[in-house]
This record gives sequence, C-alpha cells and structure tokens, in this order.
Amino acid sequence: MRANAVLIFLFFMNFLMSSCGSQKIEGKLLSRRSETTTTHDVGSSIAEILEYESIRPACDNYWAMLDENDNAIPNSNPQHLRELEVKCGKWLFLGWETSGKMPLPEILFDAIERSWPDRVGKGFEKIGFLPNPSDPAKRPLGIARSTTRYTGMPSVNVTCAACHVGQLPDGRYAIGAPNTKLHLSEFNLMSYYPLYAAMHNKDRDQLPTPVKSYYTQLERTERRRVSGGDHGIDWSNVVFHYSKLLHWLRIGPKGLPDAEFVVMPPSRDLNSWLAGRPGVFNPGAPMLTLQVQDVPNLSVPQLWGISGYESDFAAGQVAPLGQTTKYASLEKFVSSAFIYAYQDLSLIRPRHVRPLVTYLRQLEAPVSAEVLNPESVREGAHLFKQSCATCHDGRAGESTKLFAASTVGTHPSLASPRENYVATTPIAKLIDNLSQQLSAELKPQPSGIRSRRLRGLWTRTNLMIDGSVEDLPDLFCLNGKRVREESPHQDLCQSLNISEKESLSAFLKTL
Ligand code: HEC
Ligand code: HEC
Repeated sequence: MRANAVLIFLFFMNFLMSSCGSQKIEGKLLSRRSETTTTHDVGSSIAEILEYESIRPACDNYWAMLDENDNAIPNSNPQHLRELEVKCGKWLFLGWETSGKMPLPEILFDAIERSWPDRVGKGFEKIGFLPNPSDPAKRPLGIARSTTRYTGMPSVNVTCAACHVGQLPDGRYAIGAPNTKLHLSEFNLMSYYPLYAAMHNKDRDQLPTPVKSYYTQLERTERRRVSGGDHGIDWSNVVFHYSKLLHWLRIGPKGLPDAEFVVMPPSRDLNSWLAGRPGVFNPGAPMLTLQVQDVPNLSVPQLWGISGYESDFAAGQVAPLGQTTKYASLEKFVSSAFIYAYQDLSLIRPRHVRPLVTYLRQLEAPVSAEVLNPESVREGAHLFKQSCATCHDGRAGESTKLFAASTVGTHPSLASPRENYVATTPIAKLIDNLSQQLSAELKPQPSGIRSRRLRGLWTRTNLMIDGSVEDLPDLFCLNGKRVREESPHQDLCQSLNISEKESLSAFLKTL
C-alpha cells in the first residue's frame, strides 16, 4: 500500500530528526561572497539548468560530512563542503515540498490531467507548470510528493521551483526567475476539491456560486472520461471516502484529526482565487488566513541579490524579507517554510536550512542580451542616483526601509496584512505556536511597504508587490496610460520626460 510506505517514511524521518534535538537556526555564517559558482542556473533548456545527475546525490554526501550537531566533521575540505551544500540546496529548492499550501491527492492530480486536457493541458502546462525532463515520475517541475497529513493518501504539492523557476523574455530558463505563467489560483481551487466532494449540499450552497460551478465543471469532465456519458461513476467521492477510510482505520500521520484539521477556506480566499491571474495570486494556505480585508494578490518576486543576514537587519541596513509576513533573515524565512509545510520543528536544523539559504544567496541574475545605448544607460544611472536611490538604497536596488503605503500609492492593506492576526483553525494555531517557539516571524510585524530588489528586473512582468504594473514600459507609461490605473508609483509616469524615462528604463535593464 503506497500510503503506508509514505507514512513509514514520514515516521522514520521524524524519528531521525527528533532524535537529534538542535533547533538552532542560524548555524555558522558562511562567507558573504560566493567564491565560486558551483551550479548552472541559467540556460537554454530546462534539463540543462536542473543538473539532475550532479545535484541528486548532493544532500546525502553533504549530510555525511556533518556531525550530529550539524558541524563539519574534522578534516573536511571546506571547498568541497560548500560545493555540496550549494548543490544540496538546489536539490531541496527543486524537489522538496516546502510551500504548505493544500496538497492534492495524487490520484486526483493524475485524473485531472487526463480528464481536463482543454483546461490544464499535458503536464499541467496550460496552467503554467514547466515540464521536468529529469523527474522519473514524469511530474511537472515544482511538483513533488508531500505530506499525507491533510488527505490521508499519497499527495503532491508545489516546491519552491513551481513559482521561482521561469522562462525569461529571451526564451532562456532561469532558477530564481518568477514563473509568470503559473496559475496557482486555479491549482489551489483544484486542491480543495476533496473537501468540496465531502460537503453536504446545504454547505455547498454557502459557497460563492462561481466556486460551485467551477467544481461542478471539474466533476462533469471526470464523469465524461469515465463513462462517456453523464451518469457514470462519481470517482471524486471515492477520493474522499478513501481518505475518510484511512482516517477511520487510524492510518493518519501522528494521529492528528486530519479531517477536521483542514476546512474549506473562507469565501474571501476562494473569491481571490477565482480572480487570480497567472503569476499573481493569493498563495493562501490552510494555515495562513489573513484577517485584513481586501489584501490584493501577490506577484512572484525574482530571487537574485538577496542577502538576508539577521545582523544587517538588526543594524537597520536591510528591510525585512517578505511583505505579507515579514522575516528578519533568510534563515528564518526558510525555517518558516519548513514549519508551514511539515507543521513541526524537526526539519529546522542547520543541515536543512543552511543549504537552501546558501544556494539562494549565491544565485546570480541573468544578464540581458539586449543591446542598449551606453549613453542612455549612463544618463539613467545618474538619474537613478539622483531621484530613486534615496529610497532604493539597498545593494540590489531594494529599499532598506519600510514606507507608508501612501508613499508611492501601494494598496494600504499590504502595509500590515497580518495586523491583529488570530489563528482560528487548529492548523493555524499549531503553526502560530511553532513560529513563536522559533521566533521565526517578527513580532509584532512592523507596518510598512518595502520595495523589492530591482536586480534582474528586466526578466519580470507583474511589477510591484501586487503585480499591478505590467512591465518596464508600463512602469513609465511609455505606451500611454497604465494598464491598471490604480497601480503604485504613478509619479514615474507623470514627473519624468520621455528621454528620462527611456534612460531610466535602459539603466534598469542592466541591473
Ligand atoms: C506558491 C508559489 C511560491 C512557492 C511555492 C514559493 N514561493 Fe517564494 N514567494 C512567492 C511569493 C508570491 C512571494 C512574495 C511574498 C511576499 O512578499 O509576501 C515570495 C517571496 C519569496 C522570498 C522573499 C523575497 C522578498 O522579496 O522579500 C523568498 C526568499 C522566497 N520567496 C523563497 C522561496 C523558497 C526558498 C521557496 C521554497 C521553500 C519558495 N519561495 C516557495 C511565491 C512562492
Ligand atoms: C519615496 C521613496 C521612493 C522613491 C523616491 C522611488 N521609489 Fe520606487 N518604490 C518605492 C516603494 C515603497 C516601492 C514598493 C511599491 C510596491 O511594490 O507596491 C517601489 C517600487 C518600485 C519598483 C517595483 C519593484 C518591483 O519589482 O516590485 C520599481 C521598478 C521602482 N520602484 C522604480 C523606481 C524608480 C525608477 C525611481 C526613480 C525614478 C523610484 N522607484 C523612486 C519607493 C520609492
């Protein structure tokens, strides 16, 4: 039974982890500059940047070089250790389920791919997943086996790579580039299908009508596939009954009350998923329900030039990481990802956190091949220094300070989206408690907006935290009015002349 194999594996992992109790987050700080680039993260094909053969054994080899406190064993070669650490980080980035969103039962995932080709396409490519030529299970890039806790059966979920590996405007692929095609909202809706299947009709009637019709359509496609007519097997209920059966037989990880553990998200989240667009979504998870109304969807940032050292944060030299939940360091950000995904502290050890952090810190932005007028770039650099660098004063063009939302007209609910947050569901309470034990999140969350890094901005669409500015021309209104009139930083349209806009644009493409 596959479910059992997964459970045994999880128990084993937990046992292994909890038997070595260190919960120190930071580990030893590694050197700030990457001496060598050991991985190949930008290339013309996906297979090329995955480097599957090279990274697959890395974690085992890396962990073998650490003692039980996660320090390097005596006489290990620091260069070799670092190389393995980076490669292991890459492996985790691509292959470990770390998001904590609602997982999708694997049989449902497979069924949807077969029965809804017009909607999701082969390998879910129509909702923006990239293919993964290296995956023996032939799943898309950024999809991996995940916890069975919520569903009681083998399930899959997204890894960092689903959102943070993308195709560049010039056709190349890069790790750290936002996947601007990913329609996560749609994927989120699908993930909650088993809960919908198990709902009583009267509860279904409480759902927003478009949500109901979404699920009705999903069911209809599957029935068509199974029976070629309208009266076939409703396999969908089978999915849920299977999970209820496992639960009833007490084959549930750690004896948690799985079925009550997750609930249908509030209408606010469901509605925002219906309104989501590729690359811009509410990444809402069962355990992170924002209480502030009208928080807009988020776009995926590019991950280049992140330093994220807690000492820099403490010295006021960098803004916190993340906007909806603010963290003092990359170590804490990553630790928190583990908490959200696995709901315990056992994975929060330097041997897991450090590789991901080290890998992220050394990722470099791809350089644009566009031929730019050097005079224009120089002029743009000068203008930037004069009129932008007062706020965009960080090493990668980010702001080191937090600003009031009104400063550049950001949606006010983004300044402090977790204000007065109270965990309501059992899982949210658990996550809250674990985060507090770890002091992972800043408490209280400081209010304010920070600009993201500008490094590699040329690869982005959906600029700004809420993704409301299309691209660089839209930023400066070079094609007339902004696509979305309510978007932030309108001053960049109004207070600059054409030549200044073009120079700034050229300069921004060099970052
Ligand atoms: C479901 C899509 C998704 C997945 C999966 C995901 N991210 Fe992100 N990531 C985002 C979004 C959206 C943001 C912006 C969040 C915000 O600012 O509040 C973000 C922000 C970040 C940031 C902060 C950057 C900044 O500008 O402050 C880092 C670092 C990061 N992600 C790394 C990771 C890592 C590492 C993983 C895997 C453990 C991961 N992400 C998984 C979508 C995703
Ligand atoms: C008063 C402070 C301030 C000044 C001056 C300023 N910015 Fe910003 N900028 C911000 C803030 C705050 C944000 C974040 C807004 C958001 O994402 O909603 C931002 C966001 C941006 C972004 C979007 C980044 C992203 O990827 O999401 C770009 C691009 C940008 N600014 C360019 C500029 C340029 C070019 C100038 C100079 C002409 C400039 N800014 C001047 C504060 C400032």
